[in-house]
Amino acid sequence: MRRNWTAAALSGVLAVSVLAGCGGGDGGNGGDSGSGNDDGKITLGFSQVGAESGWRTANTKSIQESAASAGIDLKFSDAQGKQENQISAIRNFITQKVDVIAFSPVVTSGWDAVLQEAKDADIPVILTDRAVDSQDTSLFKSFIGSDFVVEGQKAGDWLLKEYEGKSEPVNIVELQGTTGSAPALDRQKGFQEKIATNPNMKIVKSQTGDFKRADGKTVMETFLQSTPDIDVLYAHNDDMGLGAIEAIEAAGKKPGTDIKIITVDAVKDGMTALADGKINFIVECSPLLGPQLMELVKKADAGEEIPARVLTEETTFTQEQAKEALPTRQY
Ligand code: AHR
Repeated sequence: MRRNWTAAALSGVLAVSVLAGCGGGDGGNGGDSGSGNDDGKITLGFSQVGAESGWRTANTKSIQESAASAGIDLKFSDAQGKQENQISAIRNFITQKVDVIAFSPVVTSGWDAVLQEAKDADIPVILTDRAVDSQDTSLFKSFIGSDFVVEGQKAGDWLLKEYEGKSEPVNIVELQGTTGSAPALDRQKGFQEKIATNPNMKIVKSQTGDFKRADGKTVMETFLQSTPDIDVLYAHNDDMGLGAIEAIEAAGKKPGTDIKIITVDAVKDGMTALADGKINFIVECSPLLGPQLMELVKKADAGEEIPARVLTEETTFTQEQAKEALPTRQY
């Protein structure tokens, strides 16, 4: 199944073109500078979203370390949050005739053409972490990652329980992830479905913070200025929640008490804020996708059948549970 290409002719030109195509954002993995390879190793082209959050940093580390221990040559490309960079990176991987392509799509739409090019070149594609909205599911072999709708539902379930039996209005503000991304769309959907069952609950403000701490802070500042009576913040990730905490404290309010806070991810910084009482509940989203991804890559390269969907196992954390989990938290 694997293609053994004479790297010599291609290496210089194509290594440069990957860098150019990714806006100079190539994170590298200790650097196979050639294309394809003739050392018997599988070559995996991986296009990462960027470095927008603690989750993403942990995810990149998991992928790079797992590739190294699986003996897979990783061509890692950082899209710096831009879909066009991901499309050029994937095209460069195709030109280089890598054995397998994996990527975490910045947004859900606009992938059909480049995925068709990969299929025509007979290169299996594995989606990691985020989904695409392509109707033709033959364009990719597998999708490994979380169920983001379920994550939103878990956040909503916690809130419903928290206000069970109470009749006062609950004003919620929402910090959405990157506009058009699968986690932003699905975490909003799952949460809305749940809170719709309680007529007292209302999302009074909702805006993107692009999954970034700094944006979470700025957007929360504007929420606090325009809306004096915020009861709950639902942030689609820990980083935006942590930025919002800074804004809440600067406004003289106590996060976790004056405003209840729910986030998603459970990275170390988020878990620390949860244990400290500044966040009330975190829905876990695991970034440790590397080991399972490498197993899928090996199978796809060997032409073996692989499952169309590999779901990540995840839990949720209260403040007490965060205190217990923190000492052994890996990321
Ligand atoms: O796609 C996963 C999401 O992307 C994480 O929840 C968020 O932190 C990241 O940026």
